[in-house]
Amino acid sequence: MVTKDDNFLRENNARHQLHPMIHPLISEEHPPQIIVKGDGYYVTDIDGNTFVDGIGGLWNVNVGHNRAEVKAAITAQMDEISYYSSFAGTTTAPSIELSAKVIEMSAQEDMSKVLFSANGSDAVETALKLSRQYWKLEGQPERTGFMSLKQGYHGIQFGGTSVNGSSYYRHAYGPLMPGCYQVDSPWTYRNPYSEDPSELSAAIINQIDRLIQHNGAHTIAAFIAEPIQGAGGVIVPPSEFWPALRALLDKYGILLISDEVVTGFGRSGSMFGARGWGVKPDMMCLAKGITAGYIPLGATVLNERVMSAWTKGVDPMGFVMHGYTATGHALGCAAANATLKIVEDENLPANAAAMGDRLIKGLEDLPNWSSLVGEVRGKGLMVGVDMVADKATREPIDPGKGQGEMVAAFAREEGVIVRPAGSNIILSPPLTMDADGVDKIIDGLTKAFRKYEEVK
Ligand SMILES: Cc1ncc(COP(=O)(O)O)c(C=O)c1O
Repeated sequence: MVTKDDNFLRENNARHQLHPMIHPLISEEHPPQIIVKGDGYYVTDIDGNTFVDGIGGLWNVNVGHNRAEVKAAITAQMDEISYYSSFAGTTTAPSIELSAKVIEMSAQEDMSKVLFSANGSDAVETALKLSRQYWKLEGQPERTGFMSLKQGYHGIQFGGTSVNGSSYYRHAYGPLMPGCYQVDSPWTYRNPYSEDPSELSAAIINQIDRLIQHNGAHTIAAFIAEPIQGAGGVIVPPSEFWPALRALLDKYGILLISDEVVTGFGRSGSMFGARGWGVKPDMMCLAKGITAGYIPLGATVLNERVMSAWTKGVDPMGFVMHGYTATGHALGCAAANATLKIVEDENLPANAAAMGDRLIKGLEDLPNWSSLVGEVRGKGLMVGVDMVADKATREPIDPGKGQGEMVAAFAREEGVIVRPAGSNIILSPPLTMDADGVDKIIDGLTKAFRKYEEVK
């Protein structure tokens, strides 16, 4: 039932709210769906329609919507105190509890300390700045450059935008930070080198090696990458790539920052994405799944090697002059403590692996009959459906033509929310999915692509 309040929401959204990742005039013409309720892997919109949440909020509602345990933890903390600063001199109990938990969960990666923030973009910015500070403390102040992969997404602050590998996010905001270099992504489906994963991995590693030599290793602070590239189209690198990258960076002493904002806490089928490749990064950027979106929270985790630059003694250069008002926010940390308990108690990484396999298997026939679908790929519960204008050349569809949006609208008619992003449809449902929920996504998206064939 549409109430007076509902009409107020519709009218005022178009009038007052600027939405990210869309032109304001297109947003006015195609108003966003107003989501009013969530329960488990379902959400309900303002018109009372219920959908399977195929994108898990924004790949973050990993434990599902409306979890009593998380809500109880937040309200219990509010009964004590909602906020107090974690800057020098004070802190709060839930932030201490969370720091111990995050370090315990990342012990396999030899992580030593965590610095909290409010978002994934903050977690990236923190990692970039602390890696520069690390090298200054180590007596190599020229190491200020960053390397990353094309198609990579590292948030939207100036540092993150400068290392982002997609021009969509860059071109309106330049000039960006100097000394940031992007190399080709190890993307088996679309690359000029080889379709053989091992050959491709070797070609990209060689490219990185040459770029390091060209600039001089003494100028590069860190390499930042996602273990599986998410927003760029769910690009799963060859299994050799991450171990070879780690070995190459070790040769030159360059830090490896794993941007685990999407992959952290189970989404790709292992607790951390880098762990899935058998690699220990020097830093990890965490957000999204740490609180499953109940309250915003970011975290940057540093290993023993990085921390050793600070623990040698009190160097004036070592003051951590980087932090946010929201650093260690008591409500975010309380939400995270409850969320991570669910992640462990319910073994969500294992469920993500099993349900992800089911999802990919259920969609793998799409390229055989859909004129749009070139490839279905993914790992765990991060799945991309790659849409092409030409199957032979694999030329991606022009996102401006709205085909992805059309497929997403058809899927909504079938009761499933999916995310059109560039030339991909992205699926990233809660990690609590069961077989029934996964089958509903498969069915809804399959029908949506069939409908596209009928009307195209
Ligand atoms: C890999 C990665 N890094 C960083 C970010 C930025 O996180 P946030 O949007 O919370 O700032 C994202 C967001 O999607 C991401 O996917």
